[in-house]
Amino acid sequence: MISLIKGFHDILPDQSLKWAFILDTARSCLSRFGFREIITPIMEKTELFQRGIGQTTDIVEKEMYTFSDLSGDSLSLRPEATAGILRSVVEHSLLRHEQSLKLFSIGPMFRRERPSKGRFRQFFQINAEVLGDNSPLVDAETILAATSILEDIGTQDFCVDVNSVGCKDCRNIYRAELRQFLKPSFGRLCPDCQRRFDTNPLRVLDCKEPECISICRNAPLISDWLDTACKDHFGQVVNALDSLGVNYRVEPRLVRGLDYYTRTAFEFVHSKLGRTKAIGGGGRYDSLISELGGPDVSGIGFGIGIERLSMNLPDEGPLYQRKIDIFVAIIGSDARYKCFEIVNQLRRAGLSVEARYSDMSLKAQMKLADRLGAQWVIMVGENELTQGQVTIRNMKTKEQFLVELGGIEQAVRGEKS
Ligand code: HAM
Repeated sequence: MISLIKGFHDILPDQSLKWAFILDTARSCLSRFGFREIITPIMEKTELFQRGIGQTTDIVEKEMYTFSDLSGDSLSLRPEATAGILRSVVEHSLLRHEQSLKLFSIGPMFRRERPSKGRFRQFFQINAEVLGDNSPLVDAETILAATSILEDIGTQDFCVDVNSVGCKDCRNIYRAELRQFLKPSFGRLCPDCQRRFDTNPLRVLDCKEPECISICRNAPLISDWLDTACKDHFGQVVNALDSLGVNYRVEPRLVRGLDYYTRTAFEFVHSKLGRTKAIGGGGRYDSLISELGGPDVSGIGFGIGIERLSMNLPDEGPLYQRKIDIFVAIIGSDARYKCFEIVNQLRRAGLSVEARYSDMSLKAQMKLADRLGAQWVIMVGENELTQGQVTIRNMKTKEQFLVELGGIEQAVRGEKS
């Protein structure tokens, strides 16, 4: 047997109803907020992610699936969606005629992380981006859109942590301050953080090594180094979140694993999964679009991990149950061919219908009908066919009655309406 690639996973039929429910709910929620879908390739030129996400992030440094294709181009499976969406927006000049765009995308991402519960090497994201509007109200509305998806899906026990990571200017000053703070403890930092000390000291704040966490406990906070404009922006975001009644916490230690963020950054944390396995995250990016060759406009967006959402929901729920309209139980092999015709006539009429054409006892067929979530069972044997009538059973009320062969659809629909 050839098995799955480590860290990849299958979505099995028993989970696919839940999966579809999550995607349908997200789509309908995002369309309420005015987002339209964009579908971009799962592979892009490596340079896009290096420039977009940042050369010194963990994702680009060690988590991308990168290879040279036969022409020698370096290509990478997308580790996230934002860079590809923005590449597409810039390439097709989508911001030329519209001042502001709201786009969403759903699909697989690839990161070569250490796999564990809720951490995969291929995982799916719901991703949304608002481009061309830098009002703090947009930040709050974007956070509300993500919150609404989680709520509509039925996610419980989550909170959104928000922070401002400042603009490039305040971050430059803060970076120097942070280095100053970390310098005396440099020898105790893990090898990765010793490297980050020079390249990207903010990443040290996000390190999961116990010694680095302990060193950072008293680190200076970015919130103390925000300039007036960034402070004011964040104040307005927080006020707007208050007015929307969003359940948030200001988390001054929140930094994100991607370099493009400016000002507002946020993460959705579930009480069972904790910060290291956030269900979603995002933030504002004020210079990414222009850095990728587009107009000088800002953006904000979020990504929600579908596996992590799915982990918090049962495989079957009242809103996503296995269900069919009719199960046709075949009694005796003589009725088989006629049943085959009935099944497919009813399907053509728009009903979902199932039957098993190989020999099976009535008891086993009734059990199967139950497992399939059949609303009705029609029992068809040779006798019924000669009389032109079949027995129909309402699986909820357990009532049974006879109907004419030509009246099955009407009986079922009559009951349905
Ligand atoms: P991110 O925080 O890297 O942000 O990922 C967003 C979400 O994807 C995470 O909160 C998590 O639920 C899920 N996720 C990430 N890595 C894994 C993994 N290895 N296994 C399972 N789930 C995972 C971004 O990707 C940004 N592009 C979001 C964004 C959009 N920011 C602005 N616009």
